[in-house]
Order: sequence, then structure tokens, then C-alpha cells
Amino acid sequence: MDKKTIKDLPEESLRGKTVLVRVDYNVPLDNGRIDDDTRITATQPTLKYLLGHGAAIILVSHLGRPKGKPNADMSLAPVAERLSELLGVKVAFAGDLDGAESAKARKALKPGDVLLLENARFLPGEEDNDAELSDALADMADIYVNDAFGTAHRAHASTEGVAVAMKRNGKPAVAGFLIEKELRFLGGALSNPERPFTAILGGAKISGKIDVIEKLLPQVEYLLIGGAMANTFFRALGLSTGKSLVEEDRIDMARQLLERAGPKIVLPVDCVVAGEPKGGLRTFLVDRDAIPPEGGVYDIGPKSVATFRDFIERSCTILWNGPMGMFEVEEYAEGTTGVALAVVDATASGATTIIGGGDTASAIEHAGLADKVTHVSTGGGASLEFLEGRALPGIDILDDKEPA
Ligand code: 3PG
Repeated sequence: MDKKTIKDLPEESLRGKTVLVRVDYNVPLDNGRIDDDTRITATQPTLKYLLGHGAAIILVSHLGRPKGKPNADMSLAPVAERLSELLGVKVAFAGDLDGAESAKARKALKPGDVLLLENARFLPGEEDNDAELSDALADMADIYVNDAFGTAHRAHASTEGVAVAMKRNGKPAVAGFLIEKELRFLGGALSNPERPFTAILGGAKISGKIDVIEKLLPQVEYLLIGGAMANTFFRALGLSTGKSLVEEDRIDMARQLLERAGPKIVLPVDCVVAGEPKGGLRTFLVDRDAIPPEGGVYDIGPKSVATFRDFIERSCTILWNGPMGMFEVEEYAEGTTGVALAVVDATASGATTIIGGGDTASAIEHAGLADKVTHVSTGGGASLEFLEGRALPGIDILDDKEPA
């Protein structure tokens, strides 16, 4: 990648320095219990490297969308505890970002110490990318490291503004290992995939994925489409879709895509149908040309899984973003699990398999298969924007690598 990483800083330049690391610890919490610590685990290589080279670390993150006000339900305090266990170092926690608690804790920092500051989004200046807050953050440290891939699409004070301030002060602003890894896999798939290259797209809406479809279509050999998004394509084929979710205003767009892409776009051939989008109801398997008026499509069927598996098996690079159905409901999870298993088998046979973040990452975690694919992105919106080819402001602003 063309941005400097912590590896580009001379090792001795870290010793005795304070490093401000932006992480994305926006993890699912259930009554203060962390449901999924993937995003915390994923930052370990960067933190261990910095500690191993004699630095002190100040961590900044957001959690949830508290809209500029403190909210006890979105405190990062539980994360400090989990991080202490993972790192084997007691992680100190300050109950504010740039207030008295933070100042006191920062003053006590010694090399090898880790301090996590309270949720940056408790302050309105974070999302406003406020210059004063950015300056205050930059003043806390000698070096800034962004390792928050999941938040890199946001130009906020702790992701973008702080890097601007660091650069203005002549201090380094570089990427951590997590961001480097994300760009290696997501960027590698886009720029230099081993072929055949198959993309699998799912989720509810074409409108949310149209830029990714446009970007990927010329690059892939096959584009497999599942999820509620497929319903709009069914309608473009002239099929009935009963009570299924359809974007009426995108049917024309779907038709044009099908005409343009020809056999490159592969749609489900059968579906799991029920009277309503909820569990505990009788479900029916029907071919896509037999969707009843009183039913809605909530998953792809087994024939579709077999068809998708066939394409997946003959591919060397597979990129997957978006579930095949309402996988959170047991009755509609089989399509997503079936595709996940096909992707896992392809990985075992040597394919490079990349899972976009958000729902697809949750689905593969949920199925216990996350460690059986090549890469699971920690970014939901960020990975989507990256795949759309858009610049991510939190990465764009980092120091450029010197030309070789
Ligand atoms: C995410 O979970 O996708 C990131 O943490 C970004 O969160 P946001 O969409 O609230 O900015």
C-alpha cells in the first residue's frame, strides 16, 4: 500500500514515545457483556508491536451512536477489561476523552502502559471533525496510528482531523497492521485477483449495493446475487414475487444490469417462502417462477446453494458481501450457511476468500467458520465504500510512503 505503516517508522523512534492509536472497538454489547470481540482481537498485532518497542499507548474509539452526549450504555469501560485479558497488561481506563480523568491518566503513563479513553462520540466535536478536539488529541502523543478500518470512511476528529493536526505539527500519522491487512486483501481482490474471480452479493437492497455492483461487474468472471436484492432481479425477469421485499424503482436498473452482464450475473433458482418475515411459521420451498402471491422470499433454496457452490468451486478468488437471506432467523439461515460452507471448502482447496464486514462477518462468525476463510473484514460500511472505489478519509490523510 502507498501509506506508511508503523513498520516504516524506525524501530528506535518508538522507544519511550506516546502513541495515540485510533481503534474501532464499536463492538456489540449485551448488558455490558461483549458479544463479539473480533474487533478487539484484530488490533492485537499493532498494540503488541508498539508495546514490544517500548512505546506507551493511548487508545481512542467510538462505540455506538450516542450523538455527542455521554451515555452509560455505550461506555468503553467493558472493553478495557476484555483488552486487559487479551493483552496480558492491565489497561487503564479514563472516563472522559480530553477532560480531567484523561489528563491525570495520561500524566501517569509510562512505556509499556496502555490507556483507553472514553467513547469519542460522547463529544459533539468528534463527528463534527472539530479542529479544537483534533488539536487536543494530537497534543496527547508523539505518533498517531490509525488502525480503525471500520471507521476509516468517516472524516471525524479522531480519524481524520487528528492526522491533519499531527502532520501540521511535523509528527507521524501512519497506519497500523489491521488497516494494512484489510487493504492487502480487499485491495488485492480489486487490483490483482487470481482468476476466475467470483463476487457474491446479498443483502436487502440493490440501491445500497449498486456502486459495488458497477465497480465489480467489469472485474469479475461471475457475480452471484442472493438476499432480498435478488427479488428485484426476479421482477426484472418478469417473475412474480408475492409479498417479497422489492425495490419497485430499481426494477429497470436490474433489467439493464442483466442485459449488460449476460451470463455473468447468476441469480437464485429456488427460494424459501413464508407468509411473513418471521420465525415459527410454516415455510415452503419453491422454484423462482412459482412464488405464490401470499408468500414472501426470505432465503435462497438448496438448488440455488448447489448452483452457487458450483461457481464458487471453480473460482480462485471469492469476495462475499451480504447474506443470502434473513440468516438471523433459524428457518432462513440455511442459504447463508450453505454458501459459507462452500466458501470454506474453496478456501481449503486453495482459493483466496474474502468476507466483507457487517452482516456477512456476523453470519460467518455465527456459523463458527470465521477462521476457515482467508480474511474477514472488520469494516461494514468501510469495506463497502472501499469496494465501491471511494477514498476512505481516515486512510487517505495518513503519511505517504517514500518513493522507492
Ligand atoms: C461500524 O460498525 O461500521 C463502524 O464502527 C462505524 O460505525 P458508524 O456507522 O456508526 O460510523
